[in-house]
Amino acid sequence: MQNYFLYGADYNPEQWIEDEKVLKEDIALMKEAHINCVSLGIFAWSTIEKEEGIYDFSFLKNVVNNLYQEGISTILATPSGARPSWLAKKYPSILRTNERGEKESFGGRHNHCFTSAEYRRLVHDYDKALALAFKGNKAILLYHISNELQAECFCPLCQEAFRTFLKNKYKSIENLNKAWYSAFWSKDYFSFEDILPPSPLGENSNNGLTLDWKRFVSYQNLDFYLDEVKAIKEVDNNAKFTTNFMYFFPLINYFDFKDYIDVASWDNYPLWHKYKQEESETALSTSFFHDLIYSVKNKPFLMMESTPDQTNWQDICKLKKPGMLELSSLNAVAHGSCSVQYFQWRKSLGGPEQFHGAVVNHQSDNKARTFLEVKQLGQKLETLSYLAPLKKESKCAIIYDWENRWALDISKGPRNADKGYHQEVVSHYKALRENGVEVTVLDSTASFEGFKVIVAPMLFMFRKKIEVKLEEFVKNGGILVMTYHSGIVDENMNAFREYNPKGLTDVLGIRREEIDPLYDDETKHIISLREDLPGTSASLYSEVITPSTATALSLYDEDYYKGRIAVSQNTYFKGSSYYFATHVTSSYYKAFYKNILPEELMLDMKLEEGVFVSKRGNNLIYQNFNDKDVRCSSFGLKPWETLIL
Ligand code: GLA
Ligand code: ZN
Repeated sequence: MQNYFLYGADYNPEQWIEDEKVLKEDIALMKEAHINCVSLGIFAWSTIEKEEGIYDFSFLKNVVNNLYQEGISTILATPSGARPSWLAKKYPSILRTNERGEKESFGGRHNHCFTSAEYRRLVHDYDKALALAFKGNKAILLYHISNELQAECFCPLCQEAFRTFLKNKYKSIENLNKAWYSAFWSKDYFSFEDILPPSPLGENSNNGLTLDWKRFVSYQNLDFYLDEVKAIKEVDNNAKFTTNFMYFFPLINYFDFKDYIDVASWDNYPLWHKYKQEESETALSTSFFHDLIYSVKNKPFLMMESTPDQTNWQDICKLKKPGMLELSSLNAVAHGSCSVQYFQWRKSLGGPEQFHGAVVNHQSDNKARTFLEVKQLGQKLETLSYLAPLKKESKCAIIYDWENRWALDISKGPRNADKGYHQEVVSHYKALRENGVEVTVLDSTASFEGFKVIVAPMLFMFRKKIEVKLEEFVKNGGILVMTYHSGIVDENMNAFREYNPKGLTDVLGIRREEIDPLYDDETKHIISLREDLPGTSASLYSEVITPSTATALSLYDEDYYKGRIAVSQNTYFKGSSYYFATHVTSSYYKAFYKNILPEELMLDMKLEEGVFVSKRGNNLIYQNFNDKDVRCSSFGLKPWETLIL
């Protein structure tokens, strides 16, 4: 990892390729703004390859070299996210087919088929030519593969690839039928050839089929990515790679990429200044994603995109108020980013992102507020270089598992409105952060070694024998927090015959009897048996549990389960476990974690509301998301101030 912050933007100069003056001005303005790195070539395919096999990289080379002469490096992108029209005309197989079986026509971006051998070959050829053009060029730091991978295609080629995926997995159709529980509703398949992807026009109620389709789509995106990596490695074996992720995008399990990217990166576009919502809420939900992306490789990541002022695609594209650019960018830094990159450098005059925020506005005004704030942050990041390569440490993990999320989305009942997985995970995450705890995000395949606390919210699907790992973890002294709706189905989404949470009823000292889903605005009162825990209310789900060895921290105080346990605690060998039978209020989660967390996990035990602390290396980073001065134990924080100690 570099020992300074990458600071820059997506740079798309093909928009003003003929305007030497603007190109020169770009470099001058970049230097003024302390920019040291740009991402280039993301959308340059139709500029570079106007005819199949005829590549003209001269423009891109000039830009890269001119920038480098002025100390600005390049993250070089492959262009597979947006293709030229000639290619779609010549090779119709590359166009995507939607879930209704309709073939899409050329347009937008990201609308390719991820299986099409023709598309893969054309991308491969371009990528190879790109790598040849830039091999040995010191300006290139990293390859940026495609852009926000997001393919899902239902064409005959993808159907065939899906069947191959299933054949490899199940070997026989009998195995598949068993895993998919096909006998019910007469769903048995008699040959792999009969299998079609899920569709609103056809099969849309076979859990196993839908789950395996989701696995296939994620796998096929990774496979597509790997094909691109391979093309570049054929030319340059030392090349380094990333691909820009998007929050926890539903189609792709980002954890599956961990061994195939050199650095994780993501595009961060929260909406600040929401109407009637504290900035601290946005800060916490955004921090969760920073921590998730950090956790993919457990090392510093790149914030590949963010807007310097506003987007053009939110319902109301609020501007960042003065100071928010710095606060939000340093929030990424606090959570382990080693870059601050914007989308985009210069605002487009036309086209779809004409009014999306950019560092340089339509008037090229270097006195505009956005430009000045970008420049000021550039200066500041130079003084903070020592932080860039530093790692974070955490002894507390939250499990966020993509496959579990898919399973919850697919399953019918008990609540179909919103399963609430994200909300449950983030509620625990927020309470931990409010208590000054660094959090790692793990999926079910991860090792739990080195962690003191594991929080596993709504882990409906137990896969990879996670219950065995969790039992070991508690037995050896770990603290486990688990919630309602956990340990119910196996990897095929078939229910366990054992009591739930499967394999952990002794560890938790409870077993689940039933679950009562609540209406969106329905709540049930809860009383607490301990002074240090507030009364609260149940929402979303009320699970009825029966204790064996567990004791109650809080009880339901309403409905037919009045007097039954809402939150329990248990001791198991050297460790302890807690179980939330329902979703509670944020004040309860906060007080709960304050009580159960080992002190050594809390970076600060007396954090003021709206103030968060993170640690990189030995540096504590405090951020005040309040719009007012805050007095902490030994120092004060101005509104939206970041303090590094
Ligand atoms: C995404 C894309 C960018 C741009 C931004 C706008 O993150 O990767 O190309 O369209 O959105 O917010
Ligand atoms: Zn396809």
